[in-house]
Amino acid sequence: MPRGVRRKLLGLALVGGATLLITSVALAGNGGVAPQPAASPGASSIRESYWFIMVFTGIVFFGVEGALIAFIIRYRRGKRPRNQDGLQIHGSTRLEIIWTVVPVIILAVIGGFVFFKLPHIADAPSASAAEETTIAVEGRQFYWMFHYPNGAVSVGTMFAPADDVVHEDVFSPVTDVLHSWWVPQLAGKIDAIPGRTNHTWFKAPVGVYAAVCGDLCGIQHTMMAATVHVVPRAQYEAFIKERAANPESLALGKEEFDHVCSVCHKLDSAYVGPALGQNPLLTHAKDLTTVLRQGVGKMPAVGSDWTDAQINALVAYTKTLVKNGGNG
Ligand code: CUA
Repeated sequence: MPRGVRRKLLGLALVGGATLLITSVALAGNGGVAPQPAASPGASSIRESYWFIMVFTGIVFFGVEGALIAFIIRYRRGKRPRNQDGLQIHGSTRLEIIWTVVPVIILAVIGGFVFFKLPHIADAPSASAAEETTIAVEGRQFYWMFHYPNGAVSVGTMFAPADDVVHEDVFSPVTDVLHSWWVPQLAGKIDAIPGRTNHTWFKAPVGVYAAVCGDLCGIQHTMMAATVHVVPRAQYEAFIKERAANPESLALGKEEFDHVCSVCHKLDSAYVGPALGQNPLLTHAKDLTTVLRQGVGKMPAVGSDWTDAQINALVAYTKTLVKNGGNG
């Protein structure tokens, strides 16, 4: 194959490959490269900063890559003999000043915009006590647990009042590892650090928002998901009141099974851990309690800080599983 043809084919293959790559990224879920639609002021500010920076970086990218390609073509050796030097150029003061000053201006503009937006991301607006609430978010291998002001607890599903400022105290127990609480539509990532409490907040309309763990925290990191249900204030109050009044409810037990046990166990087959369907633990409250509190083998002590009521809720629920034949 003549060299020119081979080169053209290679170029075509590169352009084709790059096009496929860019298209697949652009068409991917969640709007491709764009952040998810924002439902809270913090997430809006993050989104605005993202697009603002994207404009400049986009111009720089296409400018630099375009010039690179243009120069490769324009100044290629062509028919010049291999041993003959190319054009000799000795600096250009004007060009050098331009490519120093322009990036400095770009960085100053980006920095200014981000520092202007930062307080809107980090600081919650002030609100009256009736229009705000604080929910503690606990990250653990491999689930999220939520503690409400009246002592109520939920696992894997967080309830929050709509259109109010919701403060989140994010932490993980000293016996656990680092996680990162991330609800992309509501706010940026915030680390759940063992033995330390970090703060973030959101204010969102009624809706269901997906949460994930944003830090690699072990074998089931990707399964460490949760949902945030933002509901009218009255519904939120009713939920936490009901939870606090029935701390051993089957509803809580089911949450614990679905979001704590099921992350590593299936009923009918081995998964990360052994199958649970025929496991005597399911009906043996004392042994189940020991495993939850202390862990066993590879299994972390998932229930080390649970209240007795929380343990009882799970025990009551797993008994119903066995009654149903262990098939869930
Ligand atoms: Cu928790 Cu990743």
